[in-house]
Amino acid sequence: MALAASFKRYLPWTQTPLIINAPMSGVATSDLAVAVTRAGGLGQIGFMDNMRALSSQLETVRHELQDLMASLSDPQQLPIGVGVIVYGSPLGDWMQLFATYKPAVAWLSFASTEDLRVWTEAIRYSSPATKVWIQLGCVRDALDVAKACHPDAMVLQGSDAGGHGLAKGASIISLIPEVADALEELEIKDIPLIAAGGIVDGRGSAAALALGASGVVMGTRFLAATEARIPNVYRDAILQASDGGEATARSRIFDEIWGPNFWPQKYDGRCLRNKFYDQHMAGVPINNIRSWLSSVMNSEEEKGEAKELMGQDMGSIWAGTGVGLIKRLGNAGDFVREVREDTGKRLTRATLSL
Ligand SMILES: Cc1cc2nc3c(=O)[nH]c(=O)nc-3n(C[C@H](O)[C@H](O)[C@H](O)COP(=O)(O)O)c2cc1C
Repeated sequence: MALAASFKRYLPWTQTPLIINAPMSGVATSDLAVAVTRAGGLGQIGFMDNMRALSSQLETVRHELQDLMASLSDPQQLPIGVGVIVYGSPLGDWMQLFATYKPAVAWLSFASTEDLRVWTEAIRYSSPATKVWIQLGCVRDALDVAKACHPDAMVLQGSDAGGHGLAKGASIISLIPEVADALEELEIKDIPLIAAGGIVDGRGSAAALALGASGVVMGTRFLAATEARIPNVYRDAILQASDGGEATARSRIFDEIWGPNFWPQKYDGRCLRNKFYDQHMAGVPINNIRSWLSSVMNSEEEKGEAKELMGQDMGSIWAGTGVGLIKRLGNAGDFVREVREDTGKRLTRATLSL
């Protein structure tokens, strides 16, 4: 927890405990980032491979947060984070973007240690004020990255997390303490650990802090925020889901049904279970599912059927096991304030009960 204080130095508008929205590709756009930062968290924009579209999002943030930026010691710095799926991304274009917008945080994920090292050095050169956070899913990767990149923070993504992640992972319950112990053994004491995966409320957040995290990331919880860019049919599926371990599943099938899966073998993803996942688990080969899908998508007669199935049955709705706890739509700023306040109450209650 002592390392949590380091965030205040470069994220001075934030409050403790630090609440962060995951940079969810396609979902976390400027609306969500602005709302979370305004509520005293770290708002983030998710990965986009179209640099022009991303620049336009960053311009919107710059416009909407100009009052906050004017109060910072570096008024050119954008008080948000930007997510990069490093695997396959063009380094030069990204460095130009970071040099222009100087986001407070660059969140890197999904790459080899060597690529992460190259990106970390490039960001520190192109935009020295930008802090590098790296999301990882296992102890070995965390140690390799700590030694090779010495990032400003490591986000430990547990297996409960929604979206892509390591196929062979552990929940944050064991991941955070094991990484913390291993770092201590190496005498690396200045990299704060941030928890991600399954946290949707003050109880999960308090537990993460008790495990040794210095901040808390939520992705799935913000899928129920009015500021998230998400089709209504997906949002309804999130609100209706219960029993998160049953309602979601980790698999590569969610990427494979639409065609070749470009994700490296070590990654899969957690999604709401859908019709195709169930069919595949029952033995239907992936090629049969793909042919059926393609015939439905291309046939005029069957378009009605496709539309009906478009929700939970057909779409890949990335969501974590915490989905069962999400029962209402709300504003992202309220979510941040509620979780922050409840975290304090939960920790106090737990301490008093000892
Ligand atoms: C819809 C969705 C999209 C995501 N997209 C990304 C992404 O583009 N880059 C990334 O590093 N993580 C992504 N993630 C994973 C998050 O960074 C984070 O690990 C996860 O949301 C935490 O677990 P939770 O969803 O249970 O809160 C995504 C997660 C979700 C739910």
